Amino acid sequence: MIRKIQQTAEFLRGKIKQCPETAIILGTGLGGLAQEITDKKEIMYHDIPNFPVSTVEGHKGKLIIGKLGEKEVIAMQGRFHFYEGYSLQQVTFPIRVFRELGVKTLFVSNASGGCNPHFKVGDLMILTDHINFMCGNPLWGPNIPYGPRFPGMKEVYDKELIRKADTIAEELGIKLQHGVYLATQGPTFETPAEYKMFRIWGADAVGMSTVPEVIVAVHCGLKIFGISAITDMGVGEDAVEASHEEVQKAAAMVEPQMCALMREMINRS
Ligand code: HPA
Repeated sequence: MIRKIQQTAEFLRGKIKQCPETAIILGTGLGGLAQEITDKKEIMYHDIPNFPVSTVEGHKGKLIIGKLGEKEVIAMQGRFHFYEGYSLQQVTFPIRVFRELGVKTLFVSNASGGCNPHFKVGDLMILTDHINFMCGNPLWGPNIPYGPRFPGMKEVYDKELIRKADTIAEELGIKLQHGVYLATQGPTFETPAEYKMFRIWGADAVGMSTVPEVIVAVHCGLKIFGISAITDMGVGEDAVEASHEEVQKAAAMVEPQMCALMREMINRS
């Protein structure tokens, strides 16, 4: 595995002038940020040795390396999901390549269903913690010596970045929620009973991504900032039957706010 990571990093180093310290996973709701990256080089996943290829509708698979404002960034347009059939090691492969390239901070976004009854569709939630309910762990197997065998998970999401997000959101007039993100394996959305259970467990939002990448990023020693667009509600009066189309529609609605916040966060980080 480590040889493959190094081989891929070597390939990418040959393609880019400068290795960025900031990586972004452009999940649902953040795709628009790709258009703001300038002086960019785009590399399709299928042209990158050892990279898996993204298949799900709405996810274009490429790496974008360039400038966001004054900052050099490397962005994933399209991510790999466990429910697509990839192993958790494949899902998280790019994170280890980023670490090998010298990335220090990971910004990650996603769409999720709200299980905090005080939330509304269209809210943005900063991840303050997570629950791994993927029924698997990407660090399973021999330890890759980027980090310890038993990494601590006490403070996964960087407190300083969260404070910065709060300050920027206030300046920009963006309402932010804070909460715990629970990751399921998917691809099913939740039953009402599951939503109720996840709420009792302490989750504020439920989704099918992010946690594997974040676990590997912690293992690699990266600073992490995560944000989620609440695209449907699983509890309360607004509870609906979620669908992929609804999720995409609601995410498109909050995209301008999410992009504005992330743009500023990255510029000031
Ligand atoms: N559940 C799981 N994943 C999701 C949801 C949801 O309600 N909404 C967007 N992604």
